[in-house]
Amino acid sequence: MRGKVIHLPAMKPEGNAVRKMFTGIAGRYDLANHMLSMGIDFYWRKRLVSTVRSLTPQILCDLATGSGDVAFALCDGLPANVEITGLDFCEAMLEQAREKQAKNPRHQKIAFGVGDCLNLPLETDSVDVLTISFGLRNLENRKQGLEEMRRVLKPGGTLVCLEFSQPVKLIKPFYYMYLKGILPFIARIVTGNKSAYEYLGGTIATFPNRQQMEMEMKDAGFAKVFSKGITGTIVAIHSATKA
Ligand SMILES: C[S@@+](CC[C@H](N)C(=O)[O-])C[C@H]1O[C@@H](n2cnc3c(N)ncnc32)[C@H](O)[C@@H]1O
Repeated sequence: MRGKVIHLPAMKPEGNAVRKMFTGIAGRYDLANHMLSMGIDFYWRKRLVSTVRSLTPQILCDLATGSGDVAFALCDGLPANVEITGLDFCEAMLEQAREKQAKNPRHQKIAFGVGDCLNLPLETDSVDVLTISFGLRNLENRKQGLEEMRRVLKPGGTLVCLEFSQPVKLIKPFYYMYLKGILPFIARIVTGNKSAYEYLGGTIATFPNRQQMEMEMKDAGFAKVFSKGITGTIVAIHSATKA
């Protein structure tokens, strides 16, 4: 059993199809997220916030913000004077974010808007910290996305990316068994859309490991690239600074 990995079909993200898929599951995204991660997503976001806090940003933008949970966690965990924007290219996901925002007075300062990671509506050299959680994997052209992120960061600014990675050997077979056998089944019950979560498993299977991701960030022009695996490196936090 050990070392044997269950095959998952490779999935290549295509922008319009990704947007359509998230439009279809937007209303059930949060519930599915919490159930499928067994609640560990709260801890992962906490770790992201603590990385960002150490960078003391003034202007921050959360990319592929989806239903806004990362932007809300950043808003709760950072000083009140930090400017926070949340961008996504899927209106239906942003609608979920705005609905939740309306219910919490503390989150009113977050500006949610439409923005494609491949062509950001942000000025060059304008942002202290960019965050992106579980978004990089969905980009049609990751290199273009990383270069675009680098463009909008101020010199000395940092990209902090929370994303699935390749888990350590010991848990890999069990993890892939979960991704292929259990996850799509639960997902179909929660969202009514099994294929969206087969896509999730497929994109995770083909996503680079930590070292490869670090190389991609350096190739996109970033300096000072670091990464840390969390939960047996099921996910990793990467940080990459613009020189
Ligand atoms: C898995 S969700 C993650 C949402 C949120 N960051 C979180 O951690 O819950 C991925 C999000 O990426 C967005 N996305 C995918 N490609 C994008 C792109 N090119 N530009 C902006 N958003 C994109 C999708 O619309 C979706 O909301």
